[in-house]
Amino acid sequence: MLGSGQGSNFVAIAEAIAAGKIPAEVALVLSDVESSGILTQARQRGIPASYLPPGKYRTKLEEDAERSLVAQLQAAEVDLVLLAGFMRVLKGEFLKAFEGRIVNIHPSLLPCFPGLHAWKQALDYGVKVTGCTVHFVDAGIDSGAIIGQQTVPVLDRDTPESLHQRIHQAEHELYPRCVAALARGEISVQGRLVLWNAPAPKYGNPFPPRQP
Ligand code: GAR
Repeated sequence: MLGSGQGSNFVAIAEAIAAGKIPAEVALVLSDVESSGILTQARQRGIPASYLPPGKYRTKLEEDAERSLVAQLQAAEVDLVLLAGFMRVLKGEFLKAFEGRIVNIHPSLLPCFPGLHAWKQALDYGVKVTGCTVHFVDAGIDSGAIIGQQTVPVLDRDTPESLHQRIHQAEHELYPRCVAALARGEISVQGRLVLWNAPAPKYGNPFPPRQP
């Protein structure tokens, strides 16, 4: 799992795994930010977690760093690479090494508002509904095939912070649900179309929002 921030999506997934809702384990957490919450959260749970020095660029990894990233993930024999707030664009070699196995969460209803600060983009645009998207990663920016989406209302009194907080809550439901389906082999892909082969549970949400 890769992240640059506080790691709340990592926590949601780790807790869903611990609760037996996802048949998987987090093998490794890597971050381009040494002081990131995601590394602290992973270490607190005894999950191997390392800082990946990103090199001289601001928005992507330097070639050596990307090579090291691929090597570390391959050594850990990961089946799936989850991006959870990883704020650098991943390039060709990485995409080739894990083709079709890289998943990202984005804080808007894609294809609306790709890129940075998507919740602020939504607020500034004046949409009444936004949300979050879990999608496969391809060579574009937030452009890969969509696995799942969850809506979030935009309220008149919202600030960028309050809206992002509500989107975060939706992310903590959506991401574990999508990862569980992937881990159970319930997801198939036909071009841009991602199919959920097994029907979603009829009653109740197996991933209710976590209590603060
Ligand atoms: C999440 O809101 C995620 O959607 C966003 O960063 C936040 C990370 O939060 N990702 C992007 O904006 C990627 N373009 P977290 O560190 O608490 O999981």
